[in-house]
Amino acid sequence: MEQLLPIVIREYNVFKQYIKEFYKQTPMQEYTRSFDVFDTAVLVAILCVSGLWALRNLKFPNRDYNQSLFGYFQAQIFLFLVNYCPGVNSYIEKKKSEALQSFNDSMEKMTTKKTLKLPDNGVDTEAMMEKMKDWIERDSKNYGSGKVSGSLYVMPDKQFIKNAQDFCKHFLYSNPMHADLWPATRQMEAEVIRMTGDLFGQEKESIGILTTGGTESILLAMLAYRNWGESQKGIRQPNIVIPETAHAAFYRAGEYFKIQVRIAKINNTTFQVDVNDLRSQIDSNTVCIVGSLPNFGFGTCDPIEELASIAKKKKIGLHVDACLGGFTAVFAKDHGFDLGKFDFTLDGVTSISCDQHKHGLAPKGVSTVLFKTKQLREHAFFSIATWSGGAYAVPSIQGSKCGVGAAGAWFTLQSIGKKKYVEYSKKIMDATQSLAKQLSEIPEIKVFGNPQINCVAFMSKESWLNAYSIHEILTHQGWTISSVQNPAGVHISLTQQNIVNLKQYVHDIKAAIEKIKANPQVYQKGGEMGTLYGTTQKIPDSKLAGQALKVYLDSLLKI
Ligand SMILES: Cc1ncc(COP(=O)(O)O)c(C=O)c1O
Repeated sequence: MEQLLPIVIREYNVFKQYIKEFYKQTPMQEYTRSFDVFDTAVLVAILCVSGLWALRNLKFPNRDYNQSLFGYFQAQIFLFLVNYCPGVNSYIEKKKSEALQSFNDSMEKMTTKKTLKLPDNGVDTEAMMEKMKDWIERDSKNYGSGKVSGSLYVMPDKQFIKNAQDFCKHFLYSNPMHADLWPATRQMEAEVIRMTGDLFGQEKESIGILTTGGTESILLAMLAYRNWGESQKGIRQPNIVIPETAHAAFYRAGEYFKIQVRIAKINNTTFQVDVNDLRSQIDSNTVCIVGSLPNFGFGTCDPIEELASIAKKKKIGLHVDACLGGFTAVFAKDHGFDLGKFDFTLDGVTSISCDQHKHGLAPKGVSTVLFKTKQLREHAFFSIATWSGGAYAVPSIQGSKCGVGAAGAWFTLQSIGKKKYVEYSKKIMDATQSLAKQLSEIPEIKVFGNPQINCVAFMSKESWLNAYSIHEILTHQGWTISSVQNPAGVHISLTQQNIVNLKQYVHDIKAAIEKIKANPQVYQKGGEMGTLYGTTQKIPDSKLAGQALKVYLDSLLKI
């Protein structure tokens, strides 16, 4: 130490001299020449106080986990311009109101005579039934066409649909939150969970929660992992690592429950998650990882077995999102198709979401989230023993709830039965693989990965061909299909309603490509979807881009 001190002092003096020399060369020298000790002390005090104030009060938004430093600064400059430059701000407001106007106009086109107030006297039954016919006619125009992606999954069997409606109508006023008053509805709810769990490898007992849809199932699973991480591992700043293709509901869970969402890259050939990238993002605050079976956008499945072994090794959860594919995949083995293991028979899988209201073919409003253990499920429950309204406990996000979801699922599972589900699963998987094959034979486009379950998407291989233009042309021909992004593509989710029309689908895609080829300039921008994605991708701040989309919700809820 004694030998070190003179060296430190000498180095310090060299450094001081260097700073002084540097300082002499700056214009500051002019202003500070007349500073005495007091002035210097005041200046230092002012700098310290304002520095501390700035640290405490200037709150810079957190950088998204996967955002580059450059991207972050770009977004901050953009936000600064938006918030503080009157010209930019008013320009954006103007664009927003133009967008709102255009959304309002398209809603107006779909709206008939409006009801804005409660009638003084109730409308008589006859008039109500007339109105009902009108509502039904307007809503059923599209879903009979067989040209719709996803949305309506049930087979086009009028008698089956009528039977489901007849069954369900008796439970419209039920509320299984009060199990003592609706013991039968409660029983149906528990039985739907039991039958579903059994399909996913819960042989002796099913541990699940009945929810209103895939999103609620995913939200509850993520909530469970967050609470589990906090209580079992003391994790205060939890994160989940999800494939870039995982459903939007996972991002929503991140926003709702303050969980950091880390995004793992997708392999550009298989369109499955890049397992190495996913693994590299796991740290001691990771509560779970996610795999889709399949994902919504590209219809590809993540390698669940590999993900399960990572989850097991790291002692964290693995959620399998089988919302879309679950009720097709569980029957694959029965018609001779091996998808590998993806359920609770695979060590490492700790929760699964699967939707009865998609390929379970049930009426809308029902899904199930299954858990490997009761302890994990308990972390999704809510209860309060000291509430002034009485002791209160609910398993899902709703409080009071309608029993129609449980009744519709119970009716559907029972009346279809395993043999028919196997048949439906085979039909959908055969159609999916055949569609993927036919599309991959079209030279100008490329199918994303190897879709096997119930969803197929493709992108353009040619610079003159904007995939969104194909989407635009098909839309004008009565198809209601989806456009996907990163990369740009067109997606169709196969259903019992639309599989009969796939020959027409392939034909229309080929014709659309020929049309574009004949006149590429006209279609270069990709129509409405091209403009929408083009605009949102130009906004450097993803949250602000999302804000712009909320304008749509405004017009959706307006009359
Ligand atoms: C893979 C996947 N997960 C979750 C969901 C969310 O389901 P829901 O729309 O029922 O909330 C969907 C919906 O399409 C999906 O495809």
